[in-house]
Amino acid sequence: MKKTTTKTGIITALLLAVIVLALTPTMQSCKKDNNTTATTQTLYDSLGGTTMVNDPSHPGTMIEKGRLGIRSVVDSTIFVIAGDTAINGFFTVLLTEVTSGNTSGLTALSKNLTDFFCVATGAKNFTYGGKSMTAAHDPAQNSRMNGKADSHDFDVFVNDLVTGATKVGLSSQLIGQVGRVVNTTRSQVVQQ
Ligand code: HEM
Repeated sequence: MKKTTTKTGIITALLLAVIVLALTPTMQSCKKDNNTTATTQTLYDSLGGTTMVNDPSHPGTMIEKGRLGIRSVVDSTIFVIAGDTAINGFFTVLLTEVTSGNTSGLTALSKNLTDFFCVATGAKNFTYGGKSMTAAHDPAQNSRMNGKADSHDFDVFVNDLVTGATKVGLSSQLIGQVGRVVNTTRSQVVQQ
């Protein structure tokens, strides 16, 4: 069963949390050796690939351009979802934490989603260490998932992802390709 969460306070709290996240150098722990020899253009390559660039959130550290692009989309999308009363009720644990100033769950979610999309789009230097898509979206296996999502909830989530990606300037062509990757998870995420 899905509950709803109002926007009041959440946006402000999340904005503060995102700023805190941006200043916290914790997200690159799964970086491996940069010795890949990619021969085929992957979606990850199109998103910027393994070219190392300055990480604007962590001055003095470098990040793969593809990962930076994905992390930007992920954080932007979390922000959009937090304000979307159609589905933010699924995220009550997260939003309650953030509202009270605890950003540990937000940091973990941002990292896991970023790792997931890096791997799903073809990155070679990162691994996903979170729950399976089925377990992550089954309230019986993930107490942070407040209810089972249906197909409509999934569509709303994807729309929020498109909004989040558009806000950070991803091209409509790349958004379409990311959308196709996301849709491959539908049967695991939708559980009612
Ligand atoms: C569209 C494809 C989706 C993908 C690729 C995806 C991916 C993920 C990933 C990687 C995690 C982290 C799992 C972990 O930390 O072990 C997660 C958590 C979660 N997802 Fe999804 N998800 C999708 C759709 C949805 C939908 C449609 C909903 C609800 C409407 C949803 C609600 C949640 C919630 C509530 C969590 C837990 C958040 C927290 O840590 O507090 N997801 N998802």
